[in-house]
Amino acid sequence: MAALRSPTMRLLASASSRPTFAAAVSSSASSSFASPAAPSQYMRRSMASVSDTPAEPAKKLKSFKIYRWSPDAPSEKPHMDTFTLDLNKTGPMMLDALIRIKNEQDPTLTFRRSCREGICGSCAMNINGVNTLACLCRIPTDDKEAKIYPLPHTYVVKDLVPDLTQLYKQYKSIKPYLQRDTPAPDGREYRQSKEDRKKLDGLYECILCFCCSTSCPSYWWNSEEYLGPAILLQSYRWLADSRDEKKHERKAAFENSMSLYRCHTILNCTRTCPKGLNPGRAIAEIKKEMAF
Ligand code: SF4
Ligand code: SF4
Ligand code: FES
Repeated sequence: MAALRSPTMRLLASASSRPTFAAAVSSSASSSFASPAAPSQYMRRSMASVSDTPAEPAKKLKSFKIYRWSPDAPSEKPHMDTFTLDLNKTGPMMLDALIRIKNEQDPTLTFRRSCREGICGSCAMNINGVNTLACLCRIPTDDKEAKIYPLPHTYVVKDLVPDLTQLYKQYKSIKPYLQRDTPAPDGREYRQSKEDRKKLDGLYECILCFCCSTSCPSYWWNSEEYLGPAILLQSYRWLADSRDEKKHERKAAFENSMSLYRCHTILNCTRTCPKGLNPGRAIAEIKKEMAF
């Protein structure tokens, strides 16, 4: 027999495999205690289980206040729009709420997302005052309004989409790839000891979401020249790689007052990283390497 999917179908099936309501009436009617005009408690429960549909749970309404700006109306000032959702019908994460709002209330609402599991880094935004990934951020179940803005101190392309051009330009400038002149000993692979590989833990996991850089006051004020925590963590990822042979050149690029030394160890970057990484420590490691 095919699987029964809906609760109603299961209810009907279980009702048919047990004594039927008619049978229950006739067996009770034959008992000397029951009156046909007043069904017993058992019969009333049995009637309810066959005919009643489950009651709708009480609505859990939550408001979402979202930053809006569109390049199609450049003279209009940015503003906030408020949307309300029933959390009983919404997935648990902020990204679920945004997707529902876009699908059901305003198809023009614009944001980036792809993997929905903290891997691609594209859904980074400022939620309730914290830079984070919408797909990893649970919707608070309190009755306060949730406030959602694009990553702070970025130019806005539209709504919650920040312009990351400068950050990617800086990423390119650090040559984020293996550089070496010596060919691999076996002609195939550049091998690494387990200990050396371990030095990359806490660095290779960075997904370039830029939550850290856009939370850094030094980066807010000097983003033209200061590289900021995300790019510096990436720089250290290559400095710490035992297979890379351009350590000297990589360090030489930091011999100025701006690219690295604008970091004042405020540590907003480490506090906000949604992947639990420590860009502040990576920057400190670069400074240590620069001293020797
Ligand atoms: S530790 Fe450095 S990079 Fe991190 S937030 Fe502070 S100033 Fe910015
Ligand atoms: S260090 Fe963390 S916050 Fe910064 S870009 Fe990488 S994953 Fe994002
Ligand atoms: S959708 Fe990929 S990190 Fe959130």
